[in-house]
Amino acid sequence: MKKIIFATSNENKMKEIREILKDLDVEVLSLKDAGIKADIVEDGKTFEENAVIKASAIARLTGEFVLADDSGLEVDYLDKAPGIYSARFLGEDTSYDIKNNYILDKLKDVPLEKRSARFVCAIALCDKDGNSLVKRATIEGYIGYEIKGENGFGYDPIFMVPEFNKTTAELSMEEKNKISHRGKALLAMKGEIAKLC
Ligand code: IMP
Repeated sequence: MKKIIFATSNENKMKEIREILKDLDVEVLSLKDAGIKADIVEDGKTFEENAVIKASAIARLTGEFVLADDSGLEVDYLDKAPGIYSARFLGEDTSYDIKNNYILDKLKDVPLEKRSARFVCAIALCDKDGNSLVKRATIEGYIGYEIKGENGFGYDPIFMVPEFNKTTAELSMEEKNKISHRGKALLAMKGEIAKLC
């Protein structure tokens, strides 16, 4: 079975990714599964650059094919913040309860038509020789008025999906994977991954 490393330590992302790639003859390892401890400086200016920085660094280190994603939330009213700084927004160790309430507070009196937002995901597939492929996808929605839902992670409890009239934290993992930025980017990459198997 072909081995591929997904350059993340986030178990929630690993669950989403394994679900999407489950019908391929490929074993997806997290950094932890692969026994890798790496501190990579994500100093790119775009989601795409950061995904390639992460995947190519781990590919060089291990000699394996490596996938990496860089994702985040863009809130139009906040000039697309937190964007590529989504994980570090208000500090890496700050809870998402605090981050989400901060955004809700900033948008307290903002009408629905100005609450547009999207999750963005860029996924890179790199090999040890520095070859890379990148796919990008988004999910469009808006910032809700309160924290809702228990599923997912991060900004899910404030991100409303218009078609469902629910936050992504109120969707099941299967529902979210079908429409999410990461689900769509990974599906776009799936054909390329299948060629490696
Ligand atoms: P990354 O791990 O560098 O891609 O950082 C992504 C950050 O964006 C996460 O830590 C979350 O704050 C946010 N994010 C990305 N995707 C999602 C999602 O599907 N739901 C909620 N938050 C997300």
